[in-house]
Amino acid sequence: MNLVTPALGTLEELPADYREAMAARNLVPLWPSMRAFLPHGAPRPQTRPALWRYAEVRPLLLRAGELTPIEKAERRVLVFANPGHGLDGLHCTGTIYVGMQLILPGETAPSHRHTPAAVRLVVEGEGGFTVVNGERLPMRRGDLILTPALQWHEHHHAGTGPVVWLDALDLPLLVAMEASYAVEGTRQTARAAPDASATRYRRAGLVPFASLGARPGPYPLLRWPWEEVRAALEALADDTPRGAAVHLAYVNPETGEECLPTLGFSALMLRPGEELALPRDSASAVFHVVEGRIQAEVAGTGFDAEDADVIAAPAHAPVRLANRSAAEPAFLFRIDDAPLQRRIGIYERFGA
Ligand SMILES: [Fe+2]
Repeated sequence: MNLVTPALGTLEELPADYREAMAARNLVPLWPSMRAFLPHGAPRPQTRPALWRYAEVRPLLLRAGELTPIEKAERRVLVFANPGHGLDGLHCTGTIYVGMQLILPGETAPSHRHTPAAVRLVVEGEGGFTVVNGERLPMRRGDLILTPALQWHEHHHAGTGPVVWLDALDLPLLVAMEASYAVEGTRQTARAAPDASATRYRRAGLVPFASLGARPGPYPLLRWPWEEVRAALEALADDTPRGAAVHLAYVNPETGEECLPTLGFSALMLRPGEELALPRDSASAVFHVVEGRIQAEVAGTGFDAEDADVIAAPAHAPVRLANRSAAEPAFLFRIDDAPLQRRIGIYERFGA
């Protein structure tokens, strides 16, 4: 017997007095909306494949710097609102918020912490730095910087030109949990020492001896310099057959697990002219072009993207990538919600 009925009863089929009696008691019947909440076979994401071009975002972001002083914005960010979710939801995908933030010379974001976890990837500009729990993290182009949930952080800009970075947060998730909030704190005293990527975790495969058998804090490393990630990708490319993914994940050096409990970060390299079908999985994802010119096909929708552009890919969407240059490599940064899906036991990877 087939238990899946093709068409469930609708609200309109029910007598008006019955609907009113239910509404008056804050009751709703499940069956008219059940398929929307629990579709059969596969999810039906609201998130649409979408592209944001940095060439279009940048002038609007710089104009925000003229229109709105930092005191009136607190965070001068343009949010990438996925058209499937509308302009008010601050969704790039169902779980991932992405925006680009502008900081002008001398501006600061005072020390604060919040329940959403954040990562930033520097898009352009020199002289910006973030302080997380007293650790001073320089921000150079392509650097990945974590500000995990409830960790104190503040931003500064000691350079001369605009600094723009990509912010990605698990904000939609925290909003859905009704657990999103922030608190302000007093200015941190930043240590003068270089950050952990240059000291305690200078090289993959080496950790401080004293951390063996101990329980290091959950976030031992907060910054991944792009020059090292890029060099690691190039070295991996030398030993990876063409057509196989040159793809590295950012992980916690003490545990080998993803660096945040909810969001995962990885970097991809496409060699000149290379095409790649990513293994389809259940995670939603956002791609940011760090360098190069690529063509992406997300669930059948094609995009041409270049430096600093951003592409949203819904959960379960097949993604194909191609490097449009026959001479130069292309590099992409990927954000996904696979860690969250793994933790709640729903992550799936499908055949090509
Ligand atoms: Fe923040």
